[in-house]
Amino acid sequence: MKSNIVILGTQWGDEGKGKIVDFLTRKFHYVVRYQGGNNAGHTLIVNNKKVVLHLIPSGILHDNIVCILGGGVVISPYGLMNEIKMLSELKISINNRLILSESCPLVLEYHVKMDIARELFLKNSSIGTTKKGIGPAYEDKIARRGLQIRDIYNDEILFKKLKNNINYYNSQFINYYKCSTVQYDRILKEILEFRDFIKNKIKDVPGLLQKLYKEKKKVIFEGAQGALLDLDHGTFPYVTSSNTTIGGVFTGSGANLKLVNHVIGVTKAYCTRVGSGPFPTEITGDLDSYLCMKGKEFGSTTGRRRRTGWLDLVLLSRVITLNSITSLCLTKLDVLDDLSEIKVCVAYKNMKNMNIIEDIFENINYSFLKPVYKILPGWKQSIRGITSFSDLPSPAQNYVYFIEKFFNHQVLIDIISTGPNRIDTIIKRDI
Ligand code: GDP
Ligand code: IMO
Ligand code: MG
Repeated sequence: MKSNIVILGTQWGDEGKGKIVDFLTRKFHYVVRYQGGNNAGHTLIVNNKKVVLHLIPSGILHDNIVCILGGGVVISPYGLMNEIKMLSELKISINNRLILSESCPLVLEYHVKMDIARELFLKNSSIGTTKKGIGPAYEDKIARRGLQIRDIYNDEILFKKLKNNINYYNSQFINYYKCSTVQYDRILKEILEFRDFIKNKIKDVPGLLQKLYKEKKKVIFEGAQGALLDLDHGTFPYVTSSNTTIGGVFTGSGANLKLVNHVIGVTKAYCTRVGSGPFPTEITGDLDSYLCMKGKEFGSTTGRRRRTGWLDLVLLSRVITLNSITSLCLTKLDVLDDLSEIKVCVAYKNMKNMNIIEDIFENINYSFLKPVYKILPGWKQSIRGITSFSDLPSPAQNYVYFIEKFFNHQVLIDIISTGPNRIDTIIKRDI
């Protein structure tokens, strides 16, 4: 295993990143989250026990691992404290194993309220956010008014900024959204509880990462969401508010380029999306119900039903290039077990001029594009829990080979996931 790796989602999130980070973590020392907040939901299943993480990196189940939240991660104080409580009830201690950057912006009650108010206001054109306040919290960062962790240890700055921000938000709640306001005391209480709780966990994360580099410690950078939800490169405006693509690793943690040796793109064997927005290979009807039930496609954060679709190699190709992905991990292959035919999108047809499009580099208007499919035979037997590539039935092996051939063997599928448990994993090629 090369020393430091990035694990990022190549679709619209929920590719199974958490499971893969948990699986790989045993060979590492540190796991770093660099963007997103508790909009993420990463489900880990170990010895039939299920743990869903939102903010804490997916390495936490291994007790020798230290987890780091870089400055690009937006933090809900109650969200983080509740998650730590949930872990301690499962006898998983975070003592000396969780580090936060003092640059992390806080997600407070007014952000959540604003997220909900906006979604209601947008009615049919709503984004379908997780309503966790993520967009407004990142807006406050860009507008340079938001509270960062470093602010909460200086009473003068804390009281002043909090008051100003509450006034700013309340004026919009009253005048524009015509809804109730938020209370200063309540939010201050949350922050004060939080600052005591995390006071020994704050470190200079960019400095620490440099030190780890010199000491040759092994680090995984764990992405949240997926590349097609990236604020700049995703299906705008139906995206999240952070950079889920490779640049986010560096801005959101302070790591330098030398720290990353390998980028693993996690790809479901089909596709899902939760919330609104374009989804060219979307499936409807019985097949959608089948994939949804078999794949348990309900959001780990909001419980919403995920939309399903076929694997889209045109978009995957763009995501591979954009993120310098060096290796793929194909998850949920077992969900396709009962299908007699499996479609894969290999190009698009432009319905305006009937041209065939094989490459997409920019985020474009998908509404006039129709996917062109290659139909591959299914394997019609259970592959759940298989751990060796040679034990897969040949149509399943051929599905993997087909994808690799599509990318001219420049990027290979090195890991395959055949079930939700940590052990349901094939290492096809040891990276
Ligand atoms: P993440 O956000 O990318 O970490 O993905 P989620 O945890 O939100 O969603 C992935 C879901 O699929 C979770 O419920 C996992 O337990 C489950 N899962 C992961 N890998 C596999 C797999 O190979 N097969 C099956 N059947 N389920 C999987
Ligand atoms: P993980 O890390 C899937 C989606 C929301 C919505 C859009 C914007 O589990 O893969 P936001 O609340 O971020 O402003 O919502 O992004 N979204 C996700 N979809 N998995 C996620 O995270 C997501 N996080 C946000 O559904 O469409
Ligand atoms: Mg998820």
